[in-house]
Amino acid sequence: MKILVTGGAGYIGGTVSRVLMDGGHSVTIYDNFCHSMRSALPERAQFIEGDLADRPLLEETLDQGKFDGIMHFAALIEAGESMQKPQIYFRNNTAGTLTLLEAMTATGHNRLVFSSTAACYGEPEKKPITEDAKLQPTNAERTIWGRGMRRSFGITRRGSRSGCFISVTRGR
Ligand SMILES: NC(=O)c1ccc[n+]([C@@H]2O[C@H](COP(=O)([O-])OP(=O)(O)OC[C@H]3O[C@@H](n4cnc5c(N)ncnc54)[C@H](O)[C@@H]3O)[C@@H](O)[C@H]2O)c1
Repeated sequence: MKILVTGGAGYIGGTVSRVLMDGGHSVTIYDNFCHSMRSALPERAQFIEGDLADRPLLEETLDQGKFDGIMHFAALIEAGESMQKPQIYFRNNTAGTLTLLEAMTATGHNRLVFSSTAACYGEPEKKPITEDAKLQPTNAERTIWGRGMRRSFGITRRGSRSGCFISVTRGR
């Protein structure tokens, strides 16, 4: 399959990209290096340097790539920092996810895997955590970062009700 991995220069996105390529899939990474380095890019992956906020570039990338699916790991992840700079976290993570979904819709892409956080689920009643598990905030989830992740999650859930095939991953 042909997969676009946002945030693929980062920790989780980079690991997933390597696993995908080892499995014979073709990977294009979309990252702005705001929290990573060019040297961290997985070898063999194609790469577009770009920001989630750059909708024209996102649309061009999607249009040219005609991907089978998008895996979304591009986000800021520091819960503490999010309390100091809330607007940056809401803009980057929540608005960024919305921009990605809009660009996907505009270019006929409807398969997304969204990397959420286990912090949205508190202490889960059972593991592994399933799609329908109850959302309950932990201390981390009460931060701006956590609330932004929960909103992004809400946006993707609504997307799945309107015809997109969306899956959500989390840490546990
Ligand atoms: N690290 C974990 O244990 C863990 C566990 C579960 C879920 N997650 C989730 O996975 C995602 C990635 O986490 P990570 O630990 O790999 O973080 P990371 O900081 O290592 O990687 C994030 C990547 O996204 C890029 N990025 C951020 N904003 C961007 C933007 N606007 N445009 C383009 N690229 C942008 C950064 O440059 C970086 O390369 C997050 O959503 C996080 O909540 C992480």
